[in-house]
Amino acid sequence: MLSKKQNDLLTQTGPGTPGGNLLRSYWQPIATDDKMPPGGDPLPIRIMSEDLVLFRDPDDRLGLIGRHCPHRGTDLSYGRVEDGGLRCLYHGWAFDIEGNCIDQPAEPEDKKFCHKVRHPAYPVRQQGGVIWCYMGVGEPPLIPDFQFLSAPEENRLAFRVIQQCNWLQGLESSTDPSHTSYLHRMAKGEKTARDSGFSAMFGEDTRPRLDIEHTSFGVRIHALRKMKDGRNYLRVNNYIYPCGTTPVTESPGVPGYQGRWYVPIDDEHHCRFEFFYKNGDPVDKDGLRKVRADNIGPDGRHIRRADNRYLQDRDEQRRDDTFCGMGRYIPAHDTYAIETQGAIQDRTKEHLGSTDIVIIEVRKALLGAIESMQQGNDAPGLLHSMDQNQFPDFLCTSDYIPDGEDGPAYCRRILGELPHAAE
Ligand code: FES
Ligand SMILES: [Fe+2]
Repeated sequence: MLSKKQNDLLTQTGPGTPGGNLLRSYWQPIATDDKMPPGGDPLPIRIMSEDLVLFRDPDDRLGLIGRHCPHRGTDLSYGRVEDGGLRCLYHGWAFDIEGNCIDQPAEPEDKKFCHKVRHPAYPVRQQGGVIWCYMGVGEPPLIPDFQFLSAPEENRLAFRVIQQCNWLQGLESSTDPSHTSYLHRMAKGEKTARDSGFSAMFGEDTRPRLDIEHTSFGVRIHALRKMKDGRNYLRVNNYIYPCGTTPVTESPGVPGYQGRWYVPIDDEHHCRFEFFYKNGDPVDKDGLRKVRADNIGPDGRHIRRADNRYLQDRDEQRRDDTFCGMGRYIPAHDTYAIETQGAIQDRTKEHLGSTDIVIIEVRKALLGAIESMQQGNDAPGLLHSMDQNQFPDFLCTSDYIPDGEDGPAYCRRILGELPHAAE
């Protein structure tokens, strides 16, 4: 349970909020590359309650500036790309990618005041199949060089999905190892691009042993299950500062996982960025795109949503095909779970148990980071040089491990003994 003050600190991300300052200290993904190809049209972006427009100038350079024209507030995302920038349709003012006002054509030559107009503008970069922005103060850090962002393009694919609730609910669902034995439990089914059969294993041990370790980039999460055949099934997930996770989405022995970023649109909506990654093998992009098209609507939201009660099928549930009766697309189950917690979950009313240890530790890490920033320190895990931008303590996998070994021991064996960040 959190106090109201703690819940507000973690969930409020608008300009000037302590939680917003934390999230703004890191690069945040705002759009997948395919939404802004060379020559692409301006795209409205809402992030952390700020309305912006992403555009390419006539030289195809990317810019991210305030969406509302500083003259009298008209929406610049409808504007014309020309003459070195983006031109407002109302009276023709124009802005470059740095937010400089470069034209006020309606003003007489001797009355122009472009130099007095300051319009918000944020740096943007492309990496890992998405466009990132930096909304913090000072020199931007580096974008983290995780494999799911820097592997050859054939080994990765990024998507963006919109969810109707606060970002922290998305993040918490993705770090929580216990719920998979319930929410995602299903009978073994056809192998598909998004269900390689591993989800049937969650139901074989519904009380996994959980261990966590603090790392240089966040928290490593270990969930160990005893299978019916006696094998010990370990899943290793990670929380990455400030809003990232890496759930394992494959069966043991299949090298691959997802990076995820949970980015606030505002305090009651967020985007889930999914970075599919396979180590060595190409990802099946056509298969993944088809699964997405079957499950995500043109509005970027799940087809299963509150308006249609997540298309719950009670017969499917009664047959025990799935525990939840919401089909075999796992992210839809999570969306149901987190959206129905409320637009902003009231954590003053919850009752955490011992299996919520990961939730507790991730909140502690976030609250500690916010408090540290309020005292004038840097946000944790910021990367400022190439030699910092590597993660020798990062491991994301699932595996069968010997009797007597636990998750942390397994990771030490695989990675070698490593110095861990101070807890
Ligand atoms: S409102 Fe944009 S130019 Fe007037
Ligand atoms: Fe889940």
